[in-house]
Amino acid sequence: MTSASLHPAAGPARRTVVAAAGAAGLAAALTACGSGDGSSGGGDTGSGPAGTALAKTADIPEGGGKVFKDQGVVVTQPAAGTYKAFSAKCTHQGCAVSSVANGVIVCPCHGSQFSAEDGSVRKGPATQPLAGAKIAVSGDEITLA
Ligand code: FES
Repeated sequence: MTSASLHPAAGPARRTVVAAAGAAGLAAALTACGSGDGSSGGGDTGSGPAGTALAKTADIPEGGGKVFKDQGVVVTQPAAGTYKAFSAKCTHQGCAVSSVANGVIVCPCHGSQFSAEDGSVRKGPATQPLAGAKIAVSGDEITLA
């Protein structure tokens, strides 16, 4: 009697496993459809940096500059109407430079200073110039190029 009752129980258990596998297959098919929609979002990310509006020319003080942390760039105006851009990542140990004043870009970590005109080292401990960054100035708009 005990052994007879086990057999019917085994049958439904097997069917349950098969049904679960079928549901998993359906879920996988739905997931595949979803990833197709996701690819268009990836395209937006790729086209983000170039053409991104950074600032108005009026935001960049003459003889100084401004650090754009989110974009990792520092934009300077070493002479009236001349705009330059550099990577905001200090070449010493990678801190983000924090300010521009009196024609130099300053790193807060160990006090390195870089020329706001060409990124060259004005004061160590950094020994390498800041990498250049590309910007485009159109009218009073400064954008990443
Ligand atoms: Fe900039 Fe050290 S990381 S001075």
